[in-house]
This record gives sequence, C-alpha cells and structure tokens, in this order.
Amino acid sequence: MTDHTIASAANADMSAEEFRRHGKTLIDWIAAYLDDPRKYPVLASGRPGDLRHRLPATAPVEREPMEQILRDFDQLVMPMVTHWNHPRFFAYFSISSSAPGILGELLTAALDANAMLWKSCPAATELEQTTVAWILDWLGLPPEWFGMIVDSASNAVLQAVVAARQRAEPESRAQGPSRRLVAYVSEHTHSSVEKAAIAAGVGRSNIRHIGVDTRFGMRADALAETIRLDLSNGLKPFFAAATVGTTSSTAIDPVAEIAEICRENGIWLHVDGAYGGTFGVLPECRHFLNGVERADSFVVNPHKVMMVPLDCSLFYTRAPEMVRAAFALEAEYLKTDVHGAVDYMDYGLALGRRFRALKLWFVLRYFGREGLVAVLRKSMKMAAWLGERISGDARFELVAPVNMGLVCFRLRQGDEATRELMKRINDSGAFFVSHTALGGRFAIRVAIGNIRTEWRDVEELWAAIAGS
Ligand SMILES: Cc1ncc(COP(=O)(O)O)c(C=O)c1O
Repeated sequence: MTDHTIASAANADMSAEEFRRHGKTLIDWIAAYLDDPRKYPVLASGRPGDLRHRLPATAPVEREPMEQILRDFDQLVMPMVTHWNHPRFFAYFSISSSAPGILGELLTAALDANAMLWKSCPAATELEQTTVAWILDWLGLPPEWFGMIVDSASNAVLQAVVAARQRAEPESRAQGPSRRLVAYVSEHTHSSVEKAAIAAGVGRSNIRHIGVDTRFGMRADALAETIRLDLSNGLKPFFAAATVGTTSSTAIDPVAEIAEICRENGIWLHVDGAYGGTFGVLPECRHFLNGVERADSFVVNPHKVMMVPLDCSLFYTRAPEMVRAAFALEAEYLKTDVHGAVDYMDYGLALGRRFRALKLWFVLRYFGREGLVAVLRKSMKMAAWLGERISGDARFELVAPVNMGLVCFRLRQGDEATRELMKRINDSGAFFVSHTALGGRFAIRVAIGNIRTEWRDVEELWAAIAGS
C-alpha cells in the first residue's frame, strides 16, 4: 500500500454533504415510522434463518452505496423486525423510544465518547450524575444515594450481588466465594437475579425461592423462617432481592418488612424496580416504593416505561464504597491525574461505557415530570379499563390485580383454551401479547406502556379478545 492510498483510506468516511443527504432521508423515514407504525404487522413474519439465508455469507470487499444499504434495510431487514415501538405491542413489558430519546442516541453515536473515566469525557460523567440524581428526586428516594447508568437491570443486579459478597466476605475478592453464602429471591423474582447470583459464584443450591402470597408478593414470614433455618445450618445469608412490579404480574413485595428482616440479619437488600419503579413518580403510586429507602441497592429502567430507548438502566446504592471495593482495579494505562471525581468504570464490570445520559437528559427535559406522569396515567387508565371489561365477562377471569400497566387474565375454560386465544390474537398480526404462569395456570399478559398506544388500540384488542 502506498502512502497515498493509506491517506485516502483514512479519509474514507462519508462526506458531510453525503451525510446530510442520507441523514435527511433517514430522519424522514423515522418520522414517518413513528407517525404511523400501525401500517406494519407488530410481529415479525418468517421463520428462523429466513433473513440469514438472504444475506451474503461474507462481508463485502468493496464499498457499497448507501442507497443499496437502505434499500436492503427496507426490503430484507424490516419484514423480520418485531415492532417494539408499535402501539399494539402488548407483550413482555411494552416500551417506547420517544423522539427526543432517539435524537439523543444520534448525538451519542456522533460523539462516540467513552464514559469510563471522568477525564475520558467529563460531560458524560457529570450529565450521568445529574440525571440519576434528578430521577432519585422524582422518586422521593434518598438524595445521597450513588447512582449510575448501566445497560440493563441484569447487570445492575450483578453489581449488587458482587458488592453484597464483598461486604459479607471481604476475603472473597482474593480467594473466591465460600460455599456458605446464601441468596434469597421469591418464586416471582426476575430470572436475572438468580443468573447474577450464579455468575457471582453462589451455587444454585444456595439460592432460595421464597413462596408468595395470593397477590404474588414475597411472604416475609417465609423469608424470616428460611433465613433462621439456614443460620442454624451454619450457612451465611448475604443477599436478598425484593421486587416492585414483578415481571409476571407486577406484584409488589412487602419491601419494608423484608428490609427489616435483612437489617436484623446483615443481609444486603436489592430492590428490583426495573419496571415498577417508574410508577413511583406518580403521587398516587408513590406508596409502591415504601421501604425502598432502606434498601442497599435499587434498580429502575428508564428503557421500560420512561420513554428512553434501549438501553438505559439506573443502578443506585447507599454503599458505593462496597461496589468500588468489589470492582476497582488499578491499571497503569487508566490512571489519571484527576482527583475528587467519579470514575464510573470503578463501579462495575464494563470499561467502555456509552454516553447514555444524553438521551436520558433529552427525555427528562423534553417531557418534564408532568409529561411522564401524563403518559403513565394514561397507560394505567387503559389497563384498568381493559381489566374491568375482562372481569365483567363471565368467560374470563383476571388472575392478578391490575395495579400498573399490566393485565393478566385467562379463559375459565382452562389453559388450552387460553393458549389458543393467545395464538389467535397474535396470528391476526394486529397485536402482540405474551403469557406467563400464575398459580400454576397459563395466563395471557397484556402490557400497556407505549407512548403511542391510543384508546382505539386497547378497544380493538378487547374486541379481539371478546370476539373469541
Ligand atoms: C422486574 C424485572 N427485573 C429485571 C428485568 C431485566 O431487565 P433488563 O432487560 O434490563 O436486564 C426485567 C425485564 O423485563 C423485569 O421485568
């Protein structure tokens, strides 16, 4: 390669003029998509391998024109996209990326700053500190808590488990965990918590699944009893997770009672508010978070119902020194001459950290607290309305209280009939709902939380359910 070709390869990015042209095309495409996503079937069509078989097995050797790439996106990729941003996406936890969040993402990619150290991008660190504190304030949680943005609630709980292990057995960092550590979750805790405990070296046989009450909240008495038993067997209880808004049914564990038991036994309490935590912004729902102020760590996901695009999860802790003691390592090439600043890389696994605070900042400022409250209230109203229709029809039964944006129900005819109903709804292409098991029975979950979901979407879903 000559010097000349090396130089032209280094300047090989799109020209500013070309970027403007394609950028405008893409912004127009996104605007049209967000304006009317209903023109797409909510669920992707096709079978496993359909897209892969239509794509070349190896990457292109020569440059390809952007027009061709965008054409293939439309013709090949889009048919295999399931539209999470569709107003009739009612599966899992319905989410939405709002326009200001999308614009924030655009700038994050343009700056491509790595928020690993304060020095590696001071604005990223300080915007992160600011936005996590704003949300803490909205939720009415202790302002002195340390907060950071991570990619997922799953990684947040991994940080919590490792910090809890650090507190319970400081020597574990040098020697690995002992076989005596025991973690407590409920039968309805999200699987990410158990996964984190396994990854942190807590053997699966040392993870207790505490039973739930009729509303699917953890039974505090059963937790206390299990801890007593473990202590009498010479084991070391060290970590417990309580949930505000479980995945299956949005149940709320009795956090204050669990916190008291954890305090008495020196157990680290992590509260999973990945979904339900956001509802604490509503004055009428703030009681969902009662007791959370006593937790050692807490997670809430703005990428669920706070209109921030994936990924954006907030990890809070009252004991950042324990998290730092668990994760920080001195590497010469990462040392800086800055003192008195937070280097977020010291508080988790990831070194490279996206400038996620930008999109969060855009969303919080564009909507404000009142805007978020209005969106959440509308989702809750629509969920309550659907819940009333279902419970008023003798063919159906609600299988969990509707307290947030989720409706869980089944046909009284039984599991098979309920399963068939779900298939019919999803096969229509108009809606996407998902399922769970509650009390050992199959139940359909309808999660309402997309910013673009309108009353007509929920009314037509009810018509589809009721017409069965
Ligand atoms: C209650 C709860 N906790 C944790 C998670 C995991 O979240 P993430 O995908 O951010 O890891 C979910 C996901 O839906 C959830 O519902």
